Amino acid sequence: MDKTADNPWLLPLTNITYFRADRQNCTIFNSAFKTKDMAKVKKAFFCSNCGYESPKWMGQCPSCGQWNTMVEEVVSREGSTSNSFSSSATSARPLKLSQIDSSGKEERLRLSSLTDEKSNLSELDRILGGGMVKGSLVLIGGEPGIGKSTLSLQIPLSDSSLKTLYVSGEESARQIKMRAERLGGIHDGCFILPETSLDNILEQAKSIQPDLMIIDSVQTIFSTAVESSAGSVSQVKECAVSLLRFAKETNTPVIVIGHITKDGTIAGPKVLEHIVDVVLQFEGDTRHSFRILRSIKNRFGASGELAVYEMTGTGLREVLNPSEMFISTHEESLSGSTVAATLDGTRPLLIEVQALVSTAAYGTPQRSATGFDVRRLNMLLAVLEKRVGFKIGAKDVFLNIAGGIKVADPACDLAIIMSILSSNFDVSVNQKYAFAAEVGLSGEIRPVSQVERRIAEAEKLGFERIYISAYSQKEEKQHRKIKVIRAASIPQIVKDIFQE
Ligand code: TYD
Ligand code: MG
Repeated sequence: MDKTADNPWLLPLTNITYFRADRQNCTIFNSAFKTKDMAKVKKAFFCSNCGYESPKWMGQCPSCGQWNTMVEEVVSREGSTSNSFSSSATSARPLKLSQIDSSGKEERLRLSSLTDEKSNLSELDRILGGGMVKGSLVLIGGEPGIGKSTLSLQIPLSDSSLKTLYVSGEESARQIKMRAERLGGIHDGCFILPETSLDNILEQAKSIQPDLMIIDSVQTIFSTAVESSAGSVSQVKECAVSLLRFAKETNTPVIVIGHITKDGTIAGPKVLEHIVDVVLQFEGDTRHSFRILRSIKNRFGASGELAVYEMTGTGLREVLNPSEMFISTHEESLSGSTVAATLDGTRPLLIEVQALVSTAAYGTPQRSATGFDVRRLNMLLAVLEKRVGFKIGAKDVFLNIAGGIKVADPACDLAIIMSILSSNFDVSVNQKYAFAAEVGLSGEIRPVSQVERRIAEAEKLGFERIYISAYSQKEEKQHRKIKVIRAASIPQIVKDIFQE
């Protein structure tokens, strides 16, 4: 143990891995020789969407119903080493619910040290539900280049009293050191292990006994218990299960990084999301500096929580007042720009919606949306045309959500309609007005959830007016600095705003 503890730079991938692989090949060869049965390799088909296992190929997965997702993989159950930990586990007995002691709260590891205000991890602590629960397995997913490795390296560097093991299957120790130098705060409690063999990772982790282990990424590590290549469905599953067992048995919190496929789901089977305790997803446009970290599953707190980060030259910086960041600060009001009071998870977020309406140069008008569903934009345009009587069918419409974020909250509808009309009339909407309402197919203005929180956020940011649905529930708080206008139809608001 001391040998490794003295050396903060654990040796890169040693020959042990290759030696072990050779030896295993040898035993396979020997047993094959003895039994004269060369076809001992077991193969199975796995659904790459949900992880369903089947002995034969199928066009449609019977478990999740997806087509063309079955892939063939080599599995070897003989000589499986995956149970090496279970022997040390104490056998559990059933307990009466009333007898279970829950007086002591579950132990949590706070990632942001309380003394250092600038650790930039207090938002991460918050979306985890108040720090990482000891013995939990947290999955961080995201597209390449979004900042998963940066965030997970910032954790060990933030606190010198924390002993962490950072395992990287993607970068060399030198690359990690260079990144750490850029982030700042290098100390002796941070161990780096460039390794891809799960057996060796767990061996090293047991000898170092870190307070926190980070695996970058689950798709690059492999277990010798499964014969298929790293990143395959069965490998990812096996590695995740082994890491979970390690976390639970040693009470060490483990963070695993997972890649994301083109359609935005975490690569590898859905079962990965079932295995882990917490799933955090990193979102955002890599061309913009803002990133959103969202908890999509949390066994120890609320899911749907969100934190906003900004990628800077020296790592990720947390944004504590995100609404201020997404609203641009131009002096005079511009036509086509409005503010929507949206809600993400439980957090109100004010965002700027920009629209540009121009006469179509060609026969077919173009409709494009950045950060918003283009089908919903088409629907809103149809509502404007058919129900409210604005002739914009022959015009090009471009919509953009400022700051490179994506919104799916229907409460944006009214702000989008107003920005389209504002651009169409070329009359600006007062910058101090916000909108929070859904627009229905018959052109009615519908109420949205938690309108009270949206109003409070707009008020906090100094907005003068907010337009909501006339059918919204009555507010509890009456005296506000912000004027709350309840409207039942679009023409009513148009009259209010454009004909003042
Ligand atoms: P990275 O954490 O490597 O992404 P992932 O692990 O999710 O693939 O982030 C890489 C991007 O972040 C890269 O484009 C460079 C940028 N970056 C900064 O802008 N500032 C920094 O301090 C660091 C470390 C990275
Ligand atoms: Mg990375």
